[in-house]
Amino acid sequence: MSSTGTSGTSDVLVIGGGIIGLVTAWRAAQRGLATTVVDPEPGGGAARVAAGMLAAVTELHYGEQTLLALNLASARRYPEFTTELTDATGEDLGYRRCGTLAVALDADDRAHLRELHAFQEQCGLRSEWLSGRDCRRLEPMLAPGVRGGLRVDGDHQVDPRRLARALVTACERAGVVLRRQRAERITLAGDRATGVVTADGTRLAAGQTVLAAGSLCGRLAGIPDDVLPPVRPVKGQVVRLTMPGDRPPLLHRNVRAVVRGNHVYLVPRENGELVIGATSEETGWDTTVTAGGVYELLRDAHELVPGVTELALAETGAGLRPGSPDNAPMLGPSTLDGLLLATGHYRNGVLLTPLTGDAMAHVLTTGDLPQEVRPFTPRRFAAVPALTEPSA
Ligand code: GLY
Repeated sequence: MSSTGTSGTSDVLVIGGGIIGLVTAWRAAQRGLATTVVDPEPGGGAARVAAGMLAAVTELHYGEQTLLALNLASARRYPEFTTELTDATGEDLGYRRCGTLAVALDADDRAHLRELHAFQEQCGLRSEWLSGRDCRRLEPMLAPGVRGGLRVDGDHQVDPRRLARALVTACERAGVVLRRQRAERITLAGDRATGVVTADGTRLAAGQTVLAAGSLCGRLAGIPDDVLPPVRPVKGQVVRLTMPGDRPPLLHRNVRAVVRGNHVYLVPRENGELVIGATSEETGWDTTVTAGGVYELLRDAHELVPGVTELALAETGAGLRPGSPDNAPMLGPSTLDGLLLATGHYRNGVLLTPLTGDAMAHVLTTGDLPQEVRPFTPRRFAAVPALTEPSA
């Protein structure tokens, strides 16, 4: 699709410069579309906080088999995606094919993990049940009380901060214009989206506008109520620890568990950082790091791996996942002409980055969503028309 020809008009305007907006812009620019990203801080957003676990198999949930197919498709793209992005930018993304161990600390956890294992096998996924002793053989720093676990060699990790930084560079090198401004409101001409007005009053016009601002997508001004995506913020608090450089790594792979009903995971980076996440809180737009949140993460992580308390506390943080009603993303054209969505990735934003970029570039250039992405059209949430009384 070509530009509208108006001076200063982009083919594609992406609202939101987090990893989802940036990958969309990068892929669109690679396909020859004149692309602009609007964001006060490109490379920021939820990825600044995310641990970067690529957990298609260990985060499998009942009823989410369609989402599983999408997650697996994106996980398969990761090796090629990271190679291409590194070649384009010179940035190492910290993509580590380390695998994941999901462990149980008590009989209830064990029963829950056994069920998850059966479900994973039913879905044709590779996952191996291990005794507590075998878990500790793999990860000697695990607590002696670990009762068993699942070894999933296909769930890896990437460093989301490096990923975001590389995507900013890739966008710049591909000719994407980065407008470091806040999008104030969408502009409309009749029944069509035509771009945005930024906080400094600049009007940016575009042939196609992509709303990729994470949980903020649900409250951007100017979007008609029946088009506004049903995304909500789901807060996650994270703690970052660091290993002294002269010590062997505490863990070799991602380790996770459900402790007293809370999910906790530990993601060890090659540079000695250990990311412990994450709380899951429905508290609106609040991003306060709370004493309780940090306490719970450290307490649960300590139960799994007692040695964590000897590490240096480097950072705490909180971010907002863009939750959707069915926990799956909204990708592609909305019900408003000229407006597309790339949001609602919830717990899978980092994992779904490669696939989102490809799918959005495809729809922006052809008007069609790739087959595997069609179930994730935003139109699945379009308002059902009210039933009218039959006339007498
Ligand atoms: N996928 C991990 C999280 O959202 O906490």
